[in-house]
Amino acid sequence: MEVRAIPLWTRMAVDSAGSGRSPALTPAAGLRTGLAVLDLGMIGRDGSRRAVPSAGATYPYECYILTRDDADATGLYQVDPGRRLCQLLSRGPQVDAMLCQAALAVPEDGAVIVLATRPWLSMRKYGDRGYLYTQLDTAHLHMNLVLAADSLGASVVLRRRPPGLEPLVTEYGECAEVHSALAVTAVPAGNGPDAGPSCWAVRDARATRPSSLRRQPHWLERLCWESLVTDSEGAAAGPPGAAVSLPTAVRRGSRAPLVPRAAFHGRRSATGFAPGTVPVRDIQGTVGRALSVLHDLLPGEGTPPHATLAVRQEPHGHGESAWPAGLDIRWVPELTNEAVTEAFMAQRHLADTSAVLLLHAPTASLIDEAGGSQLWTVLYHAGALAQLVCLEAARRGLAVTGVGGFDSERWQRLAGLPTDHDVVYAVAMGVDTPDAPKLDRFAVAYAQNERS
Ligand SMILES: Cc1cc2nc3c(=O)[nH]c(=O)nc-3n(C[C@H](O)[C@H](O)[C@H](O)COP(=O)(O)O)c2cc1C
Repeated sequence: MEVRAIPLWTRMAVDSAGSGRSPALTPAAGLRTGLAVLDLGMIGRDGSRRAVPSAGATYPYECYILTRDDADATGLYQVDPGRRLCQLLSRGPQVDAMLCQAALAVPEDGAVIVLATRPWLSMRKYGDRGYLYTQLDTAHLHMNLVLAADSLGASVVLRRRPPGLEPLVTEYGECAEVHSALAVTAVPAGNGPDAGPSCWAVRDARATRPSSLRRQPHWLERLCWESLVTDSEGAAAGPPGAAVSLPTAVRRGSRAPLVPRAAFHGRRSATGFAPGTVPVRDIQGTVGRALSVLHDLLPGEGTPPHATLAVRQEPHGHGESAWPAGLDIRWVPELTNEAVTEAFMAQRHLADTSAVLLLHAPTASLIDEAGGSQLWTVLYHAGALAQLVCLEAARRGLAVTGVGGFDSERWQRLAGLPTDHDVVYAVAMGVDTPDAPKLDRFAVAYAQNERS
């Protein structure tokens, strides 16, 4: 990639390509369903934060909706969540062909939502570690969308890494990789799309400047992507042939939603923890509920990460209570704030955490298995479980934050994890400190101990 031959002044110029106004469209029922799910599961109500957490608030993914319009033609829409803009990119049999290859069908008045990862958005801040965060962030979002659709009363079929949708990223995105999809049925009347005014602008981007439909990645993004490519075609960063596509249906029937609507609105990441301890029953209830919902949603699908909960209290009175199956408990009252700070890469605001859920796996052996596809499954489960913990903590008023800035070896020692295991993600819980700035949103990679 020869960029030095181009004069710097020319390189610094920006043009307004693609920003021209395209004709407005009136969204049909299916698109309104998709947007209602995004409103609850991705956008959120609070203008200053989205519905899902993301390492450094980088949100390294793209989102597409595939759905039918009033003329019964299937359209492909790209979503810009920041601008609340939804643009029609393509319409007709070619979109149906993609869905057919992915073995996904658009339910009547429903929609298929597809997520693609864009690692550069995280890696430009966090370097190689940003690829881990990309996977975790996107898993957070995918799980939240599944739960949001369920909470709106829809039934869902969820897929990870579905085959056949590559044209989405090769034709419109580049430097991106299809991550997952969910097919959502129509939302019952009064529950979703028609329940309030929509703030979305829907436009037909095909009508104006069709050539600009294709996103032109910056040369830095291309370089970053090339560093990730592992397959012979140079197309994807993920493990070759790792289309793990076990369709999992979440059917509602008449039962209560898995997560109540209020929990989506109340979720936020703690900006730090104050001294003090939270009742063990709150931590136990939060992690227990998250594990049980995850097992219900993804029964026996691939390799889950191991979960160890390090609780900074004496076990007296708690040891005998029923802890969820599949969770190891470590009572570590002796753990000092200094040790926690070091293990969290000098993130002092996390020092007073009451408990840390460590998600870990034998990563070296997983990478060798089936081209690493099991490792992808572990990362998906880790992000999905963490999202469930965040929502359940929000419901109980427990302060929580996902933590990607951890020193795996230190936590391995502090919590007595198996020596061949690496921590892939941590979730810290404790007493909230309101009104503190969220240091992880700084432009520098604060969670990686980078100086400002
Ligand atoms: C994968 C991941 C890693 C994160 N790592 C950290 C971290 O190391 N330290 C921290 O304070 N917050 C961390 N966060 C929380 C983000 O900073 C937070 O989600 C983001 O600032 C947006 O704020 P919100 O979650 O309140 O919407 C992480 C979140 C995710 C999803």
